Amino acid sequence: MSNQDPTAGKARIDVQGLDAALRPRQWHEFVGQERIKKNLRILVDAAKGRSDPVEHILLGGPAGLGKTTLAHLIAREMDTTVRVTSGPAIERVGDLAALLTNLQPREILFIDEVHRLSKLIEEVLYPAMESRVLDIMIGKGPSARTIQLELPPFTLIAATTRIGMLSSPLRSRFGNTFRFEFYTPEELVRILTRSASVLGVSMGADAAATLARSCRATPRVANRLLKRCRDWAQVHGNTAITSAVVSQTLALMEIDAQGLEPMDRRIMSVIIEKFAGGPVGLQALAAASAEEEETIAEVYEPYLMRLGFIERTPRGRMVTERAYAHLGLAAQRPQTLLG
Ligand SMILES: Nc1ncnc2c1ncn2[C@@H]1O[C@H](COP(=O)(O)OP(=O)(O)O)[C@@H](O)[C@H]1O
Ligand SMILES: [Mg+2]
Repeated sequence: MSNQDPTAGKARIDVQGLDAALRPRQWHEFVGQERIKKNLRILVDAAKGRSDPVEHILLGGPAGLGKTTLAHLIAREMDTTVRVTSGPAIERVGDLAALLTNLQPREILFIDEVHRLSKLIEEVLYPAMESRVLDIMIGKGPSARTIQLELPPFTLIAATTRIGMLSSPLRSRFGNTFRFEFYTPEELVRILTRSASVLGVSMGADAAATLARSCRATPRVANRLLKRCRDWAQVHGNTAITSAVVSQTLALMEIDAQGLEPMDRRIMSVIIEKFAGGPVGLQALAAASAEEEETIAEVYEPYLMRLGFIERTPRGRMVTERAYAHLGLAAQRPQTLLG
């Protein structure tokens, strides 16, 4: 569906530009995730005291919660730079070798979507992480031999939206694993307030509170909605983002009181109408709702599970009574099941 939308690509660039402008550059601007920050503070200070790179770090959690932002902040704290890549971008062993051998001492390699690394690449990564060596095979057949390259001291920071998909040998090679949590409404108000001032727009406290409840507990979504509110206000001649501006904008975007978008409701209705409430596997659900498996698993499902609308069982996803109630289907349930 989205690839038929002519504005989809444009919107994405726009969102990326916005992300860059609103991304916290200083430690104190990074709101929330207190437990992670407390742990990192110690790791960073200890490493600095020894003039070592920080131990390898794995960041897990749903999209838009601040994993990439935090990786950059760690680099800043360590007075070093980050080389950014991602699991799907590292196709061959040579790609990884080039990245690793070009690192400056104490530099950070950031691998996003690390769950999408191939097995072969993972195996080359193990000795690099453990003993800072790279084993490279040259030649084929009986004349093949391995050469070993020494690597500079470096830190690998890896991020994933699907921590469960990571192989356990890879997971065990990180000194530290941090799981991001959804943000509280108070934290989101702080993020929105800062973002509004970066964007140079004024916003009432009520407006911020409403937005904070409607943004899937996710800073990236909060910022995206804020920008839509700003646009709405501008077009309608409002000088500030008021509660009325927020509710009109949310209505226009078909976002409901729980922060659910049309696709969230669609996913739940598909489970109810086509799979009798579930359980249904991810693949079948993706096909029936015309959305990609990854997007369902990484964007929609985590928040639906958090609200208690969907449950994951060994046999697949199921909607809960709450989902029926939210969709106003409680009374129709028997009829839907029969029909
Ligand atoms: N803790 C935070 N405090 C303030 N803003 C945040 C925070 N986490 C994320 N953001 C905002 O959300 C956007 C998305 O964060 P990002 O680090 O790209 O998420 P992820 O890598 O987990 O998908 C950032 O550009 C930033 O504006
Ligand atoms: Mg990211």
